[in-house]
Amino acid sequence: MDINGFTHTDNIRLSDDRKHVVIVDQTKLPNRLEYFNIETPRQLFDAIYELKVRGAPAIGICAAYGIFCLAQQISAEKYDEFYEEFKRIRVYIESSRPTAVNLGWALKRMESVVIENREKPIGKILGLLEKECLAIHEEDMAMCKSIAEHGLSLIKDGDGVLTHCNAGPLATSCYGTALGPLFLGREKGMRFRVYADETRPLLQGARLTAYELDKAGIDVTLICDNMASIVMKNGWVNACFVGCDRVAANGDTANKIGTSGVAVIAKYYGIPFYVFGPTSSIDMNCQTGADIKIELREPGEIKEKFFKEPIAPESVKCYNPAFDITDNSLISGIVTEKGICRPPYTKSIAELFCNKREL
Ligand code: MRU
Repeated sequence: MDINGFTHTDNIRLSDDRKHVVIVDQTKLPNRLEYFNIETPRQLFDAIYELKVRGAPAIGICAAYGIFCLAQQISAEKYDEFYEEFKRIRVYIESSRPTAVNLGWALKRMESVVIENREKPIGKILGLLEKECLAIHEEDMAMCKSIAEHGLSLIKDGDGVLTHCNAGPLATSCYGTALGPLFLGREKGMRFRVYADETRPLLQGARLTAYELDKAGIDVTLICDNMASIVMKNGWVNACFVGCDRVAANGDTANKIGTSGVAVIAKYYGIPFYVFGPTSSIDMNCQTGADIKIELREPGEIKEKFFKEPIAPESVKCYNPAFDITDNSLISGIVTEKGICRPPYTKSIAELFCNKREL
């Protein structure tokens, strides 16, 4: 899919010889559109840890492609040796970032292919791994389209939408999740005003969301994170749309740090707050948000990164959680590819997994 020159299926792909993964290096945006080749386990780990590839679904897709490529490099003749090495790489890659459920989910899917086909020759297993990673990517495209369609029912032409971090095509494939309705609506000739939080400290909102929306010709206004309240108070925001990294069985949601603050402010002003994500972002093993592990990152991201000189004393302590948990009571709906879950989430989320149509 190509919206105004931006190729949405090209963020993550296999190289033509299917031996390595090619990604858009998201750390270089918006100034340079550069591609990065992943050929080794260390490069895959670092690409995820350093956010060259980021966004929960994108991390999952990249890891699936990556482990397929790395599996081709395993020089084992016997299944047991092959599987031991595969598992070692899987565990290593999974440890790169702990919060987004899609990483472990995609790697587990790939590992299941290896386990379920243990009787087959290794060459055949590699063929099945290739099919599986391509399927994970294709399913994500379909899920994004469906999420965008459900999400579009929540807004009307001319509405203002506030978003935090980046849950667009770069973070997924196709339309993205939280930004999906905006891209889809734009294709249908609708107009929206989008307020993009810059999203301290790594600026995914400024660098990526503003870039994607602007490229697609959608009216986007960049704000600092601490300006969310004033734009809501001004009456400019009809709804808040955000993505998710892991949703607990009760609807508590982990997303980029600062998301829960947006939800608290939206509640105060009576503005609906929607979380968008594929069902692969729901973790039924987490009963509540308290079960979700929050990634802690380096102080340098707060004090130095993106600044010409350090902005705080070298000795000062920093607390740098990459995500926070939005309490389910602040969430008006969770938009998935299967439909929109409404409170009480324990019931509506459980029903999603029973394939019920009515939520
Ligand atoms: O640290 P990041 O940039 O990977 O965090 C990303 C987010 O929080 C996104 O909102 C989330 O992964 C959803 S992407 C569709």
